[in-house]
Amino acid sequence: MGRYHYVFPQWTNKLVVLLVLGMAVAPIYVVFVVAYGFSPDTTWVGYKPEQPVPFSHKLHVGQLGMDCRYCHTTVEHAAHAAVPPTQTCMNCHTQILPESDKLLPVWDSYETGEPIEWIKVHNSADYAYFDHSAHIQAGVSCVSCHGRVDRMEVVYQAESHSMAWCLECHRNPEPHLRAPDKVFDLGWTFEGSSQEKDDYHAYWRDANRIQPGQDCSVCHR
Ligand code: HEC
Ligand code: HEC
Ligand code: HEC
Ligand code: HEC
Ligand code: HEC
Repeated sequence: MGRYHYVFPQWTNKLVVLLVLGMAVAPIYVVFVVAYGFSPDTTWVGYKPEQPVPFSHKLHVGQLGMDCRYCHTTVEHAAHAAVPPTQTCMNCHTQILPESDKLLPVWDSYETGEPIEWIKVHNSADYAYFDHSAHIQAGVSCVSCHGRVDRMEVVYQAESHSMAWCLECHRNPEPHLRAPDKVFDLGWTFEGSSQEKDDYHAYWRDANRIQPGQDCSVCHR
């Protein structure tokens, strides 16, 4: 008996071999992921879950002209965009179509205090960090990442939201940059020659000193 009182059992040798192998392979895997933007690009595009209430963005935004921020109140200032509580709907619907069958689950929720169970359309992996406010403040419109929500009867995922997709814009954000008051106007497009258009986007890059990070630690913290 001496200093080496604790002897590791035999199987730990195998573990060591596995660990070393793992360490040898991991960088290759990471390089592969980075080079090819690995994550399957199309898996979630078009994902369109059926919601508990047939709420239409096409009607409320496209036709009635409501602003995103009326309902998604936190989107400018927080990482997550809040989905509205039932009270927000009832600001109008105690008066508008109160008898509609389509609004029955909303009344249920209003009376019981149980939130409506909206099904999440976009699901980023937990190990990736995303922040709405950073993008909204930089002049990136919802339309760059969610498509024409103002024309959607039912919301679906319009873009892949894969790592390669994030990086594509972080490398060249300029075409996506616009004035703050155009960020929520999904149908807006620049009117003018292509030279004027380039100048416009470059102006907003410089004005806000936009330089999105590409280091791993920007999105994996
Ligand atoms: C009257 C309220 C209201 C307004 C105005 C509104 N939304 Fe929504 N939004 C909702 C509700 C309720 C949901 C959840 C149900 C659904 O997905 O349709 C939602 C869901 C979404 C989702 C999907 C979130 C997820 O689950 O991943 C996106 C994206 C979205 N809204 C974008 C927008 C944009 C962009 C605008 C402005 C152009 C906007 N919304 C305006 C109420 C609203
Ligand atoms: C740069 C891309 C980008 C922009 C711009 C953007 N979103 Fe999102 N949005 C995302 C991603 C990515 C998710 C998924 C986040 C997650 O699952 O953690 C998301 C999720 C959401 C959700 C679901 C709740 C949440 O935060 O997970 C809502 C609602 C939403 N976005 C609304 C909006 C609205 C309204 C705007 C414009 C004012 C907007 N988004 C602009 C990328 C974007
Ligand atoms: C600013 C007022 C306003 C708010 C807030 C609002 N709505 Fe509406 N909603 C309307 C109007 C106006 C109509 C169309 C009425 C018509 O067709 O005559 C409508 C129509 C609807 C309909 C279709 C009803 C039918 O029988 O055709 C549904 C469902 C609905 N809204 C759900 C919601 C939900 C869910 C929310 C909250 C997330 C919400 N609305 C928030 C004004 C509003
Ligand atoms: C359409 C363009 C675009 C897309 C798509 C996009 N980004 Fe960004 N991102 C930007 C811009 C522009 C900024 C602001 C950079 C600045 O202020 O210098 C930014 C900033 C960020 C920041 C804040 C960086 C910091 O240091 O504060 C994070 C985190 C981020 N993006 C993550 C993501 C993730 C994750 C995705 C994909 C799910 C994504 N982004 C997709 C354009 C985009
Ligand atoms: C602009 C944001 C952003 C940056 C910068 C970024 N990633 Fe990612 N990464 C993501 C997102 C978002 C996902 C999740 C994609 C999904 O859900 O499909 C991801 C996924 C991954 C995955 C899992 C791949 C898979 O199977 O989906 C690995 C590994 C990874 N990233 C490594 C890295 C490394 C290494 C770097 C630095 C060279 C890096 N990332 C830089 C946003 C980023």
